[in-house]
Amino acid sequence: MDDKNEYVRLCEAAEISQGQARRFVVEGHEIAVARVGEELFAIGDVCSHGQFLLSEGEVDADDCTLECPKHGSLFNLRTGEPETLPATVAVAVYPLKSEDGALLVGIPKDDVNREDVNRDDVNSNSDDATERDNDRANS
Ligand code: FES
Repeated sequence: MDDKNEYVRLCEAAEISQGQARRFVVEGHEIAVARVGEELFAIGDVCSHGQFLLSEGEVDADDCTLECPKHGSLFNLRTGEPETLPATVAVAVYPLKSEDGALLVGIPKDDVNREDVNRDDVNSNSDDATERDNDRANS
C-alpha cells in the first residue's frame, strides 16, 4: 500500500529496452526510466550539476548507473546518488510498479491536481521539453 503516491501509467513495461533510458514528463516531474536486466528504475531526469538530461546518457548495467551526458557523473539508479563527480547532489527516485504489463510511476499526491489530471501530460517528448532541450543545446 502506498498512501503518499498517485500512480500514473507511463507505457508498456516491455517498451523500456535494455541499456537505454527513456524520458517521461508526468505532472511536472521529469523522469528517466531505465532497465537493468529484469529490473526497471526511475530517477529524476535533470542532472543535479547542470541542466542536462540523464535520459540522454548511457546506462551501465554492471554498476546500475546512468551517466550524465555532459560531464559524466554516474547516478545510482537505485538511490539517485551521484557516485562520481562533478555532481554531488542526488536526484529524486520514483517508485515504479507494473499492472497487466503496464508500467506506472508513483508521483507524490501533493503534486497531482486531481481536478485537472490530464493524461496527455504523460509523454516522452512534450513540446515544452523539446523547447527546453533546444534552449539547453543552444546555451
Ligand atoms: S551537467 Fe551532469 S555532471 Fe555536469
